[in-house]
Amino acid sequence: TCNGWLALKPKRWSRLLVLSFIALRSCAAFYLPGLAPVSFCEEGTSGDECQSTIQLFVNRLDSVESVLPYEYDVFDFCQDAEEKRPSENLGQVLFGERIETSPYKFNFNKNLTCEKVCTRTYDISAKDDKKKLDFLKSGMQGSKCPLTPKLIIDNMPVTWCYNVEDNQKYCNPGFPIGCLVTPDGHPKDACVINSAFNKKNMYYLFNHVDIMITYHSGATEGWKGARLVGATLEPKSIKHEDENKLTCDGPPMEIPNEFTSNTKVTYSYSVKFVENNSIKWASRWDYILVSMPHTNIQWFSIMNSLVIVLFLSGMVAMIMLRTLHKDIARYNQVDQEEAQEESGWKQVHGDVFRPPRKGMLLSVFLGQGTQIFIMTFTTLFLACLGFLSPANRGALMTCAVVLWVLLGTPAGYVSARLYKTFGGEKWKTNVLLTALLCPGIVFADFFLMNLILWVEGSSAAIPFGTLVAILALWFGISMPLTFIGAYFGFKKPSLEQPVRTNQIPRQIPEQSFFTKPIPGIIMGGILPFGCIFIQLFFILNSIWSHQMYYMFGFLFLVFIILLITCSEATILLCYFHLCAEDYHWWWRSFLTSGFTAVYLFIYAVHYFFSKLQIVGAASTILYFGYTMIMVLIFFLFTGTIGFFACFWFVNKIYSVVKVD
Ligand SMILES: *[C@@H]1O[C@H](CO)[C@@H](O)[C@H](O)[C@H]1NC(C)=O
Ligand SMILES: *[C@@H]1O[C@H](CO)[C@@H](O)[C@H](O)[C@H]1NC(C)=O
Repeated sequence: TCNGWLALKPKRWSRLLVLSFIALRSCAAFYLPGLAPVSFCEEGTSGDECQSTIQLFVNRLDSVESVLPYEYDVFDFCQDAEEKRPSENLGQVLFGERIETSPYKFNFNKNLTCEKVCTRTYDISAKDDKKKLDFLKSGMQGSKCPLTPKLIIDNMPVTWCYNVEDNQKYCNPGFPIGCLVTPDGHPKDACVINSAFNKKNMYYLFNHVDIMITYHSGATEGWKGARLVGATLEPKSIKHEDENKLTCDGPPMEIPNEFTSNTKVTYSYSVKFVENNSIKWASRWDYILVSMPHTNIQWFSIMNSLVIVLFLSGMVAMIMLRTLHKDIARYNQVDQEEAQEESGWKQVHGDVFRPPRKGMLLSVFLGQGTQIFIMTFTTLFLACLGFLSPANRGALMTCAVVLWVLLGTPAGYVSARLYKTFGGEKWKTNVLLTALLCPGIVFADFFLMNLILWVEGSSAAIPFGTLVAILALWFGISMPLTFIGAYFGFKKPSLEQPVRTNQIPRQIPEQSFFTKPIPGIIMGGILPFGCIFIQLFFILNSIWSHQMYYMFGFLFLVFIILLITCSEATILLCYFHLCAEDYHWWWRSFLTSGFTAVYLFIYAVHYFFSKLQIVGAASTILYFGYTMIMVLIFFLFTGTIGFFACFWFVNKIYSVVKVD
């Protein structure tokens, strides 16, 4: 349920934020490059250097329990007379961000008390009004959690800060539109903030906001105007008796569950400007994080995971080095006859480079996996440096998509080169599959999701024009680049192998349980997954709670951990089954680490049932639709890591043993 909404959200969030923040800070010496501060000054003194009007923007509304966000205008709130949307980048559109101007406008450093925005009346005789009011109520209630609109000033979230357990303050970049006291007198969700909200079966609408803006004045530092360094708000529920003379004191704005009398809602706001020159513009997002109540336990658990990784790596490296060293020494010492009676990985030297079955599919997967790997690495690296900070809205997604498109060439090259090495002849099929297979699956899935969103009328639906643009990027840029890569891949000679392959395949001896393919593959994914699952929890939280802040430095760390564990687990298991004289390692290495994606899927299912309060078929389908895309991408990503690690390993060990 959502009863712990106030207390729960910060708990889930804070850890991620604080940790990522620490990671980011150690990762990035500088902050938000590419974003220039805007100067504000009082009315009358504005000019080219500074502006006096402050425009409040509003982003879509969302809730913890639904994946479907709503646009601000679908609710009967005050609308801005001039509908003007700031231009949005591809990433914002893909993420369903729809930023609109709001009717809240004011001048810099001009305190306002209890300004009226608009009045909405609901007449019991008008059928439409009942519908509007019901929709508003459904937003206050969700079916469990209220919807929260997100206000934005000067590209910075307006946060709602409140106390949580241990007298800590938590700042949420959104506020509920209202709350509900259940028929049994239980104040739900945000209603706990005020003990006056106590009438049974009553909705309390937050129709008033007290906004406080903190600014850093340039007067002492020699530049004109001031920069905004903080914006917080406090939602209030006030029933305005006289809509033409607002006083902002009065009983709460109650909306009973039954619509039996005409209702009038007046929206209002107050603004207060406070100077604080100790906050720097460059670190104005910090307070969101600093106010987090953070749990040391979580920090320790991350450290633990890191320590385990390091410890395991040490163990693996030691065992491998010593045993391998011994193996190699033994193989290279003894004469031929004795060696024939020996068992071990050397025995399969004539088969280990026998091309895999379904080499076409494997090479296509590896080509696309390489594309995804380089894309992820570059995106995370840039994000880590602060280029894709949350203040640069949508930049992360835009960067990832553009990189993916531009990385068609390595995909084509890797796929073609490996396919040629596997002795494949159908190069046209190979090129086409590399360019079309996985992107096609993702696009089809994405398209289906969008159909659902269109039907549901959610703001996350991608406009038709954007879909066409995505197709154009794919077919117009990515595909030709893939062809170029494939051309070069096929022109090169196939990869050289350290040992010759025999004509006749060798019989594979009876395998023990642990070296059989299926148990081996299932075991392979456990180790990498074990290292990322805590982090995965935060990532899922950040995706499904529609918030993305500061996790990049941290994600980069996870990326490295994953890279190491996937490689090590695959090499280790590969070594064991080669020792058992099972030489089918091509697919097996790919699937061993790729199996992490299956655990990811299982975890996502578990997360869905245990952590999310998603209701409705559309939301559920969307959740699993997006999860499938994630799982597929993750499968290619981890599989490719495992494959190349194992490829390197097998090449290495067979090039050092003497084979006549
Ligand atoms: C606005 O209100 C704040 C806090 O009450 C006060 O410190 C500030 O001086 C006021 N600003 C103006 C321009 O009146
Ligand atoms: C300015 O902000 C800092 C950091 O949030 C705070 O510690 C300090 O008390 C503030 N100063 C004033 C004058 O409000």
